[in-house]
Amino acid sequence: MITTRALTKRYGAVCAVQSVDLDVREGDRYGLLGPNGSGKTTLVRLLLGLVFATSGEIEVMGQRIPRHVREVLPQVGALIEEPAAYPHLSGRVNLSLLDAAGPGGRAARRSRRKRIDEALEQVGLAGVGRRPVKAYSLGMRQRLGLAAALIRRPRLLILDEPGNGLDPRGIRDLRELIIGLNETGVTVLLSSHLLAEVEQLCTRVGVLDAGRLVLQDDLASLRAPTGRILVDTPDADQGWRARRRLRGRRRAAPSPRCPAHR
Ligand SMILES: Nc1ncnc2c1ncn2[C@@H]1O[C@H](COP(=O)(O)OP(=O)(O)OP(=O)(O)O)[C@@H](O)[C@H]1O
Ligand SMILES: [Mg+2]
Repeated sequence: MITTRALTKRYGAVCAVQSVDLDVREGDRYGLLGPNGSGKTTLVRLLLGLVFATSGEIEVMGQRIPRHVREVLPQVGALIEEPAAYPHLSGRVNLSLLDAAGPGGRAARRSRRKRIDEALEQVGLAGVGRRPVKAYSLGMRQRLGLAAALIRRPRLLILDEPGNGLDPRGIRDLRELIIGLNETGVTVLLSSHLLAEVEQLCTRVGVLDAGRLVLQDDLASLRAPTGRILVDTPDADQGWRARRRLRGRRRAAPSPRCPAHR
């Protein structure tokens, strides 16, 4: 669904994305995990043709980006950082304008109202869709951004930190929504700096560190037993004893994570 080869983006001396080989497969719920500044948003922007790569290749749904971005983007729903909206207009009107700017002609126009109702319902904004966006809370704006990503019923959803600003219930609703959409065949790529969020939601994980993709695998294989046991204790003797018991040996070297022996 998404592949990149040696994808690199430099901003002057800063290498925001460095030789990334991303592999998001059809049907994945792929979690891009990384701390602040690790390059998540830059990578997402590159995938959507919003910034140009310094070098490397991008393919989304079998088409090269940015060359074929016009054909690809109508099938992609995206949410990047803080979603923008006209503050004096209602959420519903904002969605309507956004949809009208997209392709589709008369058929899209005819189904617009229904699709907007559906998206507002999906993100839990059905009751406030007519209020001006300036009266929305942060979480409500985030939900509106998510609704904007959904109005075209995309095959691929790209969500940059979708949990930002949501309360625990909002995060739970978001998780259920993403899993539900994925079960209907939508492939999802989302970024997050929260391991727990990715663990609960995703089937595949990529870890970004200072612009590099340092790990990419199925969550199930990452969770599978490694046969290794880490003993982490501030008490050196306890570390010794635990290791001896585990190995069934009388003498054993202390745990490498034991501070007394560092
Ligand atoms: N337009 C830009 N001009 C210069 N540097 C930039 C630009 N955009 C991003 N960067 C730099 O690229 C690096 C990666 O930034 P990016 O926004 O992609 O990180 P992130 O993982 O999304 O972080 P966060 O979790 O805070 O959203 C950072 O060092 C940032 O300063
Ligand atoms: Mg970011």
